[in-house]
Amino acid sequence: FPVSVVLPAGGTGERTGLQTPKQFCSVLGRPLISYTIQAFERVSWIQRIVVVVAKESMDLMVDIIRRFQHEKVQVVSGGSTRHRSICNGVMALGEDGEGMAPDRPGVVIIHDAVRPFVEEEFLHKIATAAREHGAAGAIRPLVSTVIATTSEGFLDHSLERAKYRASEMPQGFSYDVIRQAYERCTETDFEFGTECLHLALQYCGTNAKLIEGPPTLWKVTYRKDLAAVESVIKESLS
Ligand code: C5P
Repeated sequence: FPVSVVLPAGGTGERTGLQTPKQFCSVLGRPLISYTIQAFERVSWIQRIVVVVAKESMDLMVDIIRRFQHEKVQVVSGGSTRHRSICNGVMALGEDGEGMAPDRPGVVIIHDAVRPFVEEEFLHKIATAAREHGAAGAIRPLVSTVIATTSEGFLDHSLERAKYRASEMPQGFSYDVIRQAYERCTETDFEFGTECLHLALQYCGTNAKLIEGPPTLWKVTYRKDLAAVESVIKESLS
């Protein structure tokens, strides 16, 4: 069945404290996003990869695609929030209908550009579950307990850690589900929402199958994470 990918990469990466957004930072001479694209390009059953970047990064992204000879990749302009960027990518996939024949509804995998170590075996699990259930997402056990704080900065309540999971990427959706979710959701969802799986449930009644992913799904967030990516890549080359 046809599988396409949306890679949101429209963020500014403020938490790294670097000038360059983290997805474009160089790791051993190659921008981080290029490793993530490569991870998807190597998967034969993936047809298209839509990369969503901020307007001011469009030229840079086109240059990266040319320099590192990426194939199957299309660049789309992003939005002010992660949801808007993903929405632009999802809509771009539908525009020419390629790989999205109505009699064989396709699956869309959404994955952060800053999680470069995603593997084919796990992508296959997500794509298959998304096809069967309409939506699927990666989860990981929580490493810290989650607490709610009062506006004055005191403890309000804490959650029972064993009951909760961290929602990670990749996530997969039947194309119709994710498209409708974005067509139906509100401005507030666009501004504040962070969970695509929740939009699918709320606006399409599609309950996501959750699958525990490997620790290699971690997201590059801080400056130290770039050094960690470098050492993992070096290790895999040696
Ligand atoms: O900021 P955070 O680490 O949660 O971002 C996750 C992903 O969403 C990153 O790949 C980032 O580039 C992307 N993003 C986006 N458009 C935005 C904000 C973030 O595509 N406006």
